[in-house]
Amino acid sequence: MALRKEDAAKKGSVARFRPLAHAAARSRGSAALPSVLTFAVIVASGGLLLMIEKGMLSSVETPSPRGNGRSLSYLQNARDQAAVDVEAQGIYQSKLESVVTGTVPPGATRGLSNDHNIQREIRNRTMKIMCKQKNMPQNIWSLSPLKRKTLLQHILVNEEHRFLYCYVPKVACSNWKRMLKVLSGALENVDAKGKMDHKADLVFLGNMKPDEIRYRLRHYFKFMFVREPMTRLLSAYRNKFGEIQEYQKKYGPEIIRRYRPGYTAAEAAAGADVTFAEFVRYLLDEDPDRMNEHWMPMYNLCQPCAVQYDFVGTYERLQEDAAYVLEKVGAPPHIRYPERQSWYKPVTKETLHYYLCSVPQKLVWDLLPKYIIDFSFFGYSLPNTTTEYCRH
Ligand SMILES: *[C@@H]1O[C@H](CO)[C@@H](O)[C@H](O)[C@H]1NC(C)=O
Ligand SMILES: *[C@@H]1O[C@H](CO)[C@@H](O)[C@H](O)[C@H]1NC(C)=O
Repeated sequence: MALRKEDAAKKGSVARFRPLAHAAARSRGSAALPSVLTFAVIVASGGLLLMIEKGMLSSVETPSPRGNGRSLSYLQNARDQAAVDVEAQGIYQSKLESVVTGTVPPGATRGLSNDHNIQREIRNRTMKIMCKQKNMPQNIWSLSPLKRKTLLQHILVNEEHRFLYCYVPKVACSNWKRMLKVLSGALENVDAKGKMDHKADLVFLGNMKPDEIRYRLRHYFKFMFVREPMTRLLSAYRNKFGEIQEYQKKYGPEIIRRYRPGYTAAEAAAGADVTFAEFVRYLLDEDPDRMNEHWMPMYNLCQPCAVQYDFVGTYERLQEDAAYVLEKVGAPPHIRYPERQSWYKPVTKETLHYYLCSVPQKLVWDLLPKYIIDFSFFGYSLPNTTTEYCRH
């Protein structure tokens, strides 16, 4: 049922994008991506595509620790240049508006909203284009051993339904792990109470032999879930530094010693009151490939160029996207993705606004390049942290 729904949605999305492209261009695939859509991608990705083309990516991927503002000016340049083609953008805007205001047959959109379909299509194309650029890894074997190890440690295998799930902490991964245990018969139902064991009864791709890995990457359904990058970071901060003592003990003392002028010995020993600004300063100095998984960029965790995912779901559309995946892998119909736990405190728009605006603007601007690939690849726009916005 949901599968048919999805088919209808797919047809809908093709119909919607047809006006943007020549049929001939379409058949040549994304290499000949219609220019209008390319601009849409650039606009959506905050100029990253342009940066790749101009060879700026390497300077952005590893921004100098505690940047002197240089990385930010790359961003701004790229944005300005993307904005130069106002005409193309205008065309896209008007197409988008006609799409959104319903030149599309109503039946075509059943189940999924237009915005969601458009965002998904842009995400799909952005990833394709970016992964084609040279210097992007083409498969897992072209990754450095460290990157490959991280990736393989984050891919879970389900043999019964032949799928691979790359988990991203703070993106509903506990519920997916529970789901995998149910699907493999290790757990009776997803609502089972009790603490989640993040290792037991789970099969990691990293524990398999190279030819077993190769086979599964080629033949299994592969998916991951993403979330707005700043919300994910904030969620990690609030959870790890607000609630979990092991984390306060493990990271707190060092962060306070490094980033709090005039700290007291007691503060440093406890490590219990790391502020969001201190956390951000700490992130700026960390190597993305060696970060703790809760704040490592989603790109580094799941390597969406080295692994060609069949589906990238979003936290913002969790129920809908999860249902799609379950249908796709042939999960028994009585198994459904769990609702949010009642104790869960979502990060609201207001909370995000509060935290992003409570730290010096320059800190956030320095932080964005570190996560720019997450924004761009997965189709999230950069947060508005202008002074006007923060005044509200
Ligand atoms: C992107 O679109 C293609 C063609 O529709 C599809 O086969 C592929 O699974 C999609 N990839 C993602 C990540 O959605
Ligand atoms: C940011 O927010 C302010 C105030 O709400 C608004 O005037 C401005 O246009 C926004 N900027 C962007 C880039 O969205």
